[in-house]
Amino acid sequence: MNGMAQPIRFGVLGLGRAFTLMVPTLAGDPRIRLVACCDPHEEATVLFQQQFGARVHASAEALCADPQVEWVYVATPHPLHEAHVALAAAHGKHVLVEKPMALSLAACDRMLAATRQAGTHLVVGHSHSFDSPVALARDLIRSGRYGQVQSILALNFTDFLYRPRRPEELDTAQGGGVVFSQAAHQVDVVRLLAGGLVESVYARTGVWDRGRATEGAYSAILNFASGAFAQVNYNGYGLFDSDVWMDGVGELGQPKTALTHQVTRQKRLTSTDEMAEVAQKAARNYGGAAYKPQASHERAGFQHFGPVIVSCQGADLRLTPQGVEVHDVQGVQLMRCALQDVPRQEVLDELWSVARSGAQPVHSGAWSKATMEVCLGILASARERKVMMMHHQIAPDGPT
Ligand SMILES: NC(=O)c1ccc[n+]([C@@H]2O[C@H](COP(=O)([O-])OP(=O)(O)OC[C@H]3O[C@@H](n4cnc5c(N)ncnc54)[C@H](O)[C@@H]3O)[C@@H](O)[C@H]2O)c1
Repeated sequence: MNGMAQPIRFGVLGLGRAFTLMVPTLAGDPRIRLVACCDPHEEATVLFQQQFGARVHASAEALCADPQVEWVYVATPHPLHEAHVALAAAHGKHVLVEKPMALSLAACDRMLAATRQAGTHLVVGHSHSFDSPVALARDLIRSGRYGQVQSILALNFTDFLYRPRRPEELDTAQGGGVVFSQAAHQVDVVRLLAGGLVESVYARTGVWDRGRATEGAYSAILNFASGAFAQVNYNGYGLFDSDVWMDGVGELGQPKTALTHQVTRQKRLTSTDEMAEVAQKAARNYGGAAYKPQASHERAGFQHFGPVIVSCQGADLRLTPQGVEVHDVQGVQLMRCALQDVPRQEVLDELWSVARSGAQPVHSGAWSKATMEVCLGILASARERKVMMMHHQIAPDGPT
């Protein structure tokens, strides 16, 4: 850390699942001070106040107006992202907003306009494109030593649809389903590795459970301006677990227990009531009755978003929870990523460079709007059964 620079003072809007997953990062890194929060869940705000000696605000407006708050972490449900980013910007605050950025390109544009007008930074994340093995693969690709990217295969079989959900998370019109919540990760990863500029999208989606009537699966082909193509496949009904192909390491870098997906399904069978499910979700969150802080010994590797293989002219690069496995004509070599002090440290590395060194973020509003364009393109292509052309794509080092 730069000796002169002060920690970034964070106010958190929404202490739910997303915050629960970010706590080890935000609480464990000396570059961050958690100074304020706002959430209607009292058990969460009480713990926050105790753990961080921070202020609790009764409204999003009050949190954004707090002069102690420098950056607002917007971790509220997707439909609220736009309003909360606008509120933060109106109070001159920088924003880290959770993925997906918003539910429409018009909303993304309004968020960009609000932060531009305020002259404040907008970073979108966490997304798995921050993961160190993705960054290492990107560096290897950019070094040119393996030639151009020809194609990428990304796939993920998870229990996403059967984890405890709020009703809106199962309603596509309100941002529910795996395209908004999960393609936002997978498309971001693939765009970062293939240069960002998607020309067209052709996709199918699956809505296979009438009791949870939103997209639980998709399969898409993305064509890039470079000539590369990517296949992105996601199955949130997975009884198979593709983490067996990630050396048994789960999305959060934890050792994955066998039959995790079966256990998730069995729990769902025993709870049919919507409100019971909402309570189950809240109980696992920060401050909830079933909340368990993530222990450092539970880290078996980097976080990831399932198997990804990048085929370059001269090598296939397989992303693993430890780094990048390079398969070339010489043989197979694992290039390891440097270890981190806290999980998701990459998010704070980028944020710090933006907040304290004036760097442009990779995960800017414009970058993330382009990822949303592809996600919306997946939904539209599946609905209309045609190829969708993209018009708002930018390269990772493009304008913000
Ligand atoms: N990057 C990741 O790994 C990741 C993981 C989970 C969720 N998310 C994202 O985080 C966002 C929230 O999802 P979640 O699963 O955490 O939902 P959640 O329901 O677990 O949490 C949302 C929280 O926001 C609070 N909230 C709602 N309205 C509010 C308001 N007006 N002011 C303050 N707080 C308010 C709720 O009380 C709740 O605690 C979504 O956009 C989701 O995509 C990201």
